Amino acid sequence: EKGGFPSFMEKEINEQPAAVEQTLMGRTDPDGNLVLDELKIDESVLRAVDKIVVVACGTAAYAGQVARYAIEHWCRIPTEVELAHEFRYRDPIVNERTLVVALSQSGETMDTLMAVRHAQEQGAKVVAICNTNGSTIPREADAALYTHAGPEIAVASTKAFLAQITAAYLLGLYLAQLRGNKYKDEIAGILAELEAMPAKIQQVIDAQAAVKDLAQSMKDAASVLFLGRHVGYPVALEGALKLKELAYIHAEGFAAGELKHGPIALIEEGQPVFVIVPSPRGRDSLHAKVVSNIQEIRARGAVTIVIAEEGDEAVADYANHIFRVPQSPVLLQPLLTTVPLQIFACELATAKGYDVDQPRNLAKSVTVE
Ligand code: M6R
Repeated sequence: EKGGFPSFMEKEINEQPAAVEQTLMGRTDPDGNLVLDELKIDESVLRAVDKIVVVACGTAAYAGQVARYAIEHWCRIPTEVELAHEFRYRDPIVNERTLVVALSQSGETMDTLMAVRHAQEQGAKVVAICNTNGSTIPREADAALYTHAGPEIAVASTKAFLAQITAAYLLGLYLAQLRGNKYKDEIAGILAELEAMPAKIQQVIDAQAAVKDLAQSMKDAASVLFLGRHVGYPVALEGALKLKELAYIHAEGFAAGELKHGPIALIEEGQPVFVIVPSPRGRDSLHAKVVSNIQEIRARGAVTIVIAEEGDEAVADYANHIFRVPQSPVLLQPLLTTVPLQIFACELATAKGYDVDQPRNLAKSVTVE
């Protein structure tokens, strides 16, 4: 049942191209328009939405953070992302013009369910992005947009994360299409880029041997840091979470811009730091800022492990190790840059002799509050 892989996690990492492909499938008409029939919320309500709040926990919340950059850019709708267990105990300002998006692989996470109810009580409409057909969160939500990643068995989320991001992109593009804003004409182009992603994810998976070698050599690391900016920031958080939950290594993700506000004090000789580099073909200053962050930490002795696009030569001089991902638009990069971090954590945990499918103290779905 593990399909010849030593663990469900490895199997699921390898299923990611298919998970993204299945999530995209059947959601466009022959003219290239997005058709989300499942989104059973009145179009007039969706047109009137003036705020989006994403609620989720753990990895799903990082998918929500990635979605925020895309949704705000494409739809120009203010978007917040909040951990469901914080949202539900605040007195959040939510009303009939708020669209709440609940992200959950299992559809059974208790805090996310409670956040959904809390939002609905105040008149908000809720869309669930979920991987488990007929589970509680999509049943209680006003509409459900399913990710079609297939069952995820390993406790650490991998393919569901990529599928959640994909579905959230579709939701953002659909709202842009419906509301006819200035990005409407770009939707077909972005969809074409999305459809090219499964093959690119496969290329990253095919290059995993180098990542595994590095993981093997780092099994005694006491702490690993992850830096990213823009959509690379939630990817950094996800890379750190994977390493914590699987390899029980202290790991932290930071927004690269925060470095000089504190975390740079952690950098000493030999400290491994992963840096997720945005495409140099995107906003110039964004790429340049991350390159200068790499220089800053290298100058203080960090061992820099850089995830960068093919052809990005600006990073080469400051990287101890480089893993390349194929070129893609900046907003879609998390579908690629996350993959080496998953492979790294899985391999390092395996090298330490840990069970990657069942890490200690964790459950696949957290149905308690
Ligand atoms: O089923 P959900 O997507 O609601 O689960 C949310 C989190 O519990 C989950 O993503 C958790 O953080 C994973 N162990 C991460 O790998």
